[in-house]
Amino acid sequence: TMEVVQTIADLRARIKAYRRKNDQSVGFVPTMGFLHEGHASLLQKARSQSGLVVLSIFVNPLQFGPGEDFERYPRNAEKDLAVAEAAGVDIVFMPSVDEMYPTPTRTTVSVSEVTTRLCGASRPGHFDGVATVVNKLFHMVQPDQAFFGLKDAQQVAVIEQMVQDLNIPVEIVPCPTLRENDGLAMSSRNVYLSAEERQQALVLSQSLQQAKAFIQSKSASSFTSQELESLVRDHIQTAPLAVIDYVEVLSYPTLEPFEHSHSINTLIIALAVKFGKTRLIDNLILQVR
Ligand code: PAJ
Repeated sequence: TMEVVQTIADLRARIKAYRRKNDQSVGFVPTMGFLHEGHASLLQKARSQSGLVVLSIFVNPLQFGPGEDFERYPRNAEKDLAVAEAAGVDIVFMPSVDEMYPTPTRTTVSVSEVTTRLCGASRPGHFDGVATVVNKLFHMVQPDQAFFGLKDAQQVAVIEQMVQDLNIPVEIVPCPTLRENDGLAMSSRNVYLSAEERQQALVLSQSLQQAKAFIQSKSASSFTSQELESLVRDHIQTAPLAVIDYVEVLSYPTLEPFEHSHSINTLIIALAVKFGKTRLIDNLILQVR
């Protein structure tokens, strides 16, 4: 049966008790709650790979900038616990802000280079908040594996860099983006969209599919990043309510400008677009020449 704990001491005690009796791995899925099928897919992956599955639900104030949606971020603990239970979670960690940050924080984990573009550029301090809280959570849970969605591809790159640089003994498992039937990437923030915005938001996944088809129609190395970016921008701009924050083509996971080479390499087309107050992100990762 699933256990719900609110304190770090209780969390550590449960995990310690498990470790004493088992030599199976501990899998960890960090989230901010308002769980959807995308989160559930991470939990199912963890369930299939780990002996003990730990889920954290914590809306981390550190990763929200001034004027962002920390206060109005959607919350529904009751539904979250039902989703967790159905996915076979063993331990849910739901700390308060005071439990996570009892005194003013004087230490920040800051990852450079991979945070300079995309959401790192448009949300200053965001990835410091993410890296700091994930580092704290890794020290609390001490998982063998941690599962992250490629919906937030830059976040995966940041966490992988942090784990490598700080020698954190955890395996990062990137997981594919889950989408609604019409292609919209699942996100807790989708509930903010009006019916009209929800309809127009389809241009995001559509524009990425068009870019993919364009790349596949070309012979090796015969397209530029700019061409791809324009194609994606032009399609997004057919939606009158869409306000583009960024559309960028980079190499992945380095997140540096993409250049063709003789070997196969990995490209990301990443975008952030606002519909009203709601900022949505999506991306496509592809192997190309
Ligand atoms: P949150 O936005 O709740 O996402 C938790 C995890 O679910 C992340 O790894 C995210 O990439 C993944 N996820 C979200 N939507 C997804 C989708 N449609 N398909 C697959 N995976 C998806 O990301 C965070 O929380 C926070 O930054 C956190 C890492 C918890 C640190 O506070």
